[in-house]
Amino acid sequence: MKLLITGAAGFIGSALAGRLLERGDTVVGIDNLNEYYDVNLKKARLERLSTREKFTFEKLDIADCLGVKALFARERFDALGACRTCDATSSLCKTGQPNEVENNITTFSAANREESACSCCD
Ligand SMILES: NC(=O)c1ccc[n+]([C@@H]2O[C@H](COP(=O)([O-])OP(=O)(O)OC[C@H]3O[C@@H](n4cnc5c(N)ncnc54)[C@H](O)[C@@H]3O)[C@@H](O)[C@H]2O)c1
Repeated sequence: MKLLITGAAGFIGSALAGRLLERGDTVVGIDNLNEYYDVNLKKARLERLSTREKFTFEKLDIADCLGVKALFARERFDALGACRTCDATSSLCKTGQPNEVENNITTFSAANREESACSCCD
């Protein structure tokens, strides 16, 4: 399977990515590498994952609709693992729009199905 993991540099996202890679899956990880805690810890996790042939990483915020659309224009996924957190520095939290998280999941799903429902940045 080919999977997209959001928050791939985080504690849970990186562990999930590692397990999926061990299973033989192909994993694309995205993360905005926010500074809620030491970014070097996140970079070290990504370095470990990057030794795996079937892992690719893109620094991307899930609120970046154009970036997300561009990703889905290049890639197709069988599943999405949403492991980003809503912490104090998250752009989603800062905007005060909690529904954006849900909207992004909808966007992910629509983009993966090549539907026109992804209207956030049309
Ligand atoms: N760690 C735990 O024990 C635990 C237990 C239960 C639930 N959870 C939940 O699981 C989720 C992940 O937890 P964690 O411990 O891995 O947190 P974490 O902070 O280590 O990882 C989250 C990652 O998401 C990234 N991120 C945040 N906002 C983003 C955005 N807008 N776009 C892209 N990337 C973004 C961060 O840079 C970070 O690397 C959280 O929602 C947390 O509440 C964690």
